[in-house]
Amino acid sequence: MKASAKANPNFALVKYWGKRDEKLKLPQNSSISLTVSDFFTHTTIEFSEKYERDELVLNKKKYLPKNKEYENIKEFLNQARKISGTSLRAKVVSKNNFPTSAGFASSASGFSALATAVNQALSLKLGKKGLSILARMGSGSASRSIFSGFSEWKKGKKKDGSDCFAVQLKDNNYWNDIRIIACIISKKKKSIKSRKAMRETVKTSPMYGCWLENIENDLEKTRHAIEKKDFSLLGKTAEHNCLKMHSLMWTTIPPIIYQEPKTIEIIKKVFEMRDNGLECYFTMDAGPQVKILCLRRSVPAIIENILGIAKERFVLKPGRGARVSQNHLF
Ligand code: DP6
Repeated sequence: MKASAKANPNFALVKYWGKRDEKLKLPQNSSISLTVSDFFTHTTIEFSEKYERDELVLNKKKYLPKNKEYENIKEFLNQARKISGTSLRAKVVSKNNFPTSAGFASSASGFSALATAVNQALSLKLGKKGLSILARMGSGSASRSIFSGFSEWKKGKKKDGSDCFAVQLKDNNYWNDIRIIACIISKKKKSIKSRKAMRETVKTSPMYGCWLENIENDLEKTRHAIEKKDFSLLGKTAEHNCLKMHSLMWTTIPPIIYQEPKTIEIIKKVFEMRDNGLECYFTMDAGPQVKILCLRRSVPAIIENILGIAKERFVLKPGRGARVSQNHLF
């Protein structure tokens, strides 16, 4: 009853922001993302009678009951225990090879890896759809990291969430030329977690209705851009969608502003590069980091332009979906 899994984060091109059900993590809108290479979470879980309570070690740090991370994972394990009919406690050890909780979608890779490991350890025999639903119960965006490449998380209509899961649009080999340059602006933990931030937005931003009215249009354009490999349409739509999401955050009461001065500097640099004929677009999530979308041939010139602003950068490709690993962490 011990298993390990690895999963990569995904960056949303059309964002998920706002829930219709907090407990089941059902979103107000569908979203589309790209699972990326290189960054991953590696997780090992063991269910056993020898554990009197769930044990959790994340990035070498031990977490105890009452801590938020601990309670989130315990709640997730309770859902899995319900499916399998076991009451066994578990030990979870997990580590990321990239900054945690800084806007690099570590909850997406984290819960996607955990769902995959749990499925194996408890022999739940869930397919991709079931895994996506299980991962979603940990963190909404994790539903998409089950898949490689481009995926769409369908918002669904049902109250029980049984029609709310991600599907693959195209795998990681489909559009080899796409690159995401992940720029590290700050490694500080974020000021407010996306879960709380989106709850506040839905409650207080007067723009939220407008976000929902426009979202189908962005989804349609993005699906089309992926299908046709139309990079300009993909980039323009993703950048605009990201700005709309951040406008929601800025107009939340009290306002939620994840940007740091260097975030704005990079954004302006992206505009400048585009004006000079170097095609690239940006997207940002719940943190100060900027992800620059571009094609492979533009990477060297873009790096040259941002050298002085983002000291640490990672050039990521479309990446693999969650997978079982034979390599145990304990
Ligand atoms: C800005 O999936 O972290 O990255 O479901 O509450 O765990 P919970 O939220 P989470 O939110 C991700 C928000 C986002 C946009 C996105 O990934 O679509």
